[in-house]
Amino acid sequence: ASSTIYEATCSAPVNIAVIKYWGKRDTSLILPTNDSLSVTLDQDHLRSVTTARADPSFSSPPERLWLNGVEEEIKSQGRMRTCIDEMRKLRKGLEDKDDKLPKLSTYGLRICSENNFPTAAGLASSASGFAALIYTLASLYELQPAVSTSHLSRIARQGSGSACRSLFGGFVAWQGGETTDGSDSLAVEVAPQEHWSELQALICVVSDAKKGTPSTAGMQRTVATSPLLQHRIREVVPARMKDISQAIKARDFNRFAEITMADSNNFHATCLDTSPPIFYMNDVSRAIVQLVEEVNRASEEAGKGKIVAYTYDAGPNAVLYAPKENVSLVLGLIRHYFPNADFDDTFNLLSSGANASHR
Ligand code: PMV
Repeated sequence: ASSTIYEATCSAPVNIAVIKYWGKRDTSLILPTNDSLSVTLDQDHLRSVTTARADPSFSSPPERLWLNGVEEEIKSQGRMRTCIDEMRKLRKGLEDKDDKLPKLSTYGLRICSENNFPTAAGLASSASGFAALIYTLASLYELQPAVSTSHLSRIARQGSGSACRSLFGGFVAWQGGETTDGSDSLAVEVAPQEHWSELQALICVVSDAKKGTPSTAGMQRTVATSPLLQHRIREVVPARMKDISQAIKARDFNRFAEITMADSNNFHATCLDTSPPIFYMNDVSRAIVQLVEEVNRASEEAGKGKIVAYTYDAGPNAVLYAPKENVSLVLGLIRHYFPNADFDDTFNLLSSGANASHR
């Protein structure tokens, strides 16, 4: 028996979409009905850290997984199973080509993953969690550079759609693709974080209660019942993907803010257009929208550009994007207009993140 320890630890950050993914055209491969684009947040604040070890002695069952210290079952038809199997196949491919490689693809695995933010904060942890898992297995199996990050994103996508975007830092597009096998449904970098490091994100935790309708069930219902979603898929998103990519390349905050807010509203409109309707935003979320709109209107009236942009995922928490120079003004306004709100855990995320990386 060999005494070599095969172990890897990697982390991956959370990402927040500015053009939202909402709807699957294939629910088992997780192929989306439209392209999406996100900003990867700072790893210091919101990240998942995963450690994986491979060993020939691991058996019955060969794979075990702990999330935040609690063991989770790896279900035979589940997404975790798919991700592990796909990564093992990639390793097997390398072993077939090179006799000298240890046969890690035949070893069992022990995996543990932790978030450095409370899972209960109502913030998506599946994106960073699956991205960290994929990156850690890629590192353990020494898949890179033979296997590209975009290739890995195709596997992360099968864990949780939005996870494919967390393998890159900065500004990331998920190209939905057209094939039925998902080979062209992957993430690509639009611009690295350094390209626009003045941009910051503020997360206002409006409620840390668990969201009402999980994204998978919500998407399914919207795809099945919303005529507005069809318009969004065909007309709205394709134009916005082009426009926001240009705005990012030009570091045009005004345009970026305009498109980001419009897309958040269009996404929540498709939720309202779902039967029965889905409500993710609450009164506080809407009050933040009004505040942001008012602040921007006043600034534009004074001949200046927009100050801040809002976006909401499948929950009531606001994510605000603003250039660094506006952040203290925005925080001051939020505190002034919501003096009693429990925004203690409003945190200020510096710039837009980093690649999944070794700890
Ligand atoms: O990847 P999921 O199933 O957690 O879905 C994410 C959906 C949104 O967060 C609402 C939008 C997005 O693009 O991240």
